[in-house]
Amino acid sequence: MKNAILWGAAGGIGKALTQKLVDEGLAVVAVSRRPSEMKALTPHVIAADVTQPSQVAAAARMAGEMLPAFDLFLYTAGDIASLKVAEMTPADWNRLLAANLTGAFLTAQASLPLLAPDARLVFLGAVHERLRLPGLSAYAAAKAGLEAFAEALRKETRRPALVVRPGAVDTPFWHKVPFSMPKNALAPQALAETIFSALTEGKTGLLDL
Ligand SMILES: NC(=O)c1ccc[n+]([C@@H]2O[C@H](COP(=O)([O-])OP(=O)(O)OC[C@H]3O[C@@H](n4cnc5c(N)ncnc54)[C@H](OP(=O)(O)O)[C@@H]3O)[C@@H](O)[C@H]2O)c1
Repeated sequence: MKNAILWGAAGGIGKALTQKLVDEGLAVVAVSRRPSEMKALTPHVIAADVTQPSQVAAAARMAGEMLPAFDLFLYTAGDIASLKVAEMTPADWNRLLAANLTGAFLTAQASLPLLAPDARLVFLGAVHERLRLPGLSAYAAAKAGLEAFAEALRKETRRPALVVRPGAVDTPFWHKVPFSMPKNALAPQALAETIFSALTEGKTGLLDL
């Protein structure tokens, strides 16, 4: 693996993965709404909202000009809120579905022409079966949809696709929900190490961590 593109890169997991890939000698294009935060990690930084088709298309064009074919596609954007169905606005629902699911479609579609023949795809999912809980309907539905999308994409493109399903990871994600982060939450750096090992071992499908 030589070149990677990481969409939604500025989160706790995105930054740890960017750092791990750079440490392993990969050139990484980081696409993020907060590009200034990524410049310390990689020189190849693009500003984009992963849920906006025109921004995704422009970012893909720029990425293709920065580096030749990508060996690795990663989608690490995501959003969460604790909102019961009775109180959730359509805008809340759309934001959660867009960040966790629609952005995965938009960025994967835009990236396909940029990928090397043996490129691998990685999506950050969640153990959504355990998250069908009050307040988490949109998040759980989006992550279930993400898995279905990734599996169908794998069959369509015959490319290895991996959906990583972490338990708790110590990132700012937890600031968005009124639950305490479990004491045994993984450090994002440890998660990044494990994901990289899984990639080098050729793991596809679901990866529960
Ligand atoms: N942390 C956990 O315990 C945990 C557990 C299971 C699964 N996950 C999954 O892991 C992934 C990464 O989460 P994290 O823990 O790293 O959370 P995080 O620190 O909150 O990062 C999430 C990232 O997604 C980005 N994002 C959201 N909407 C976006 C949009 N429309 N356009 C561009 N970027 C957007 C955010 O960008 P901004 O910085 O610009 O807002 C942020 O950088 C998520 O999919 C999450 O569901 C996390």
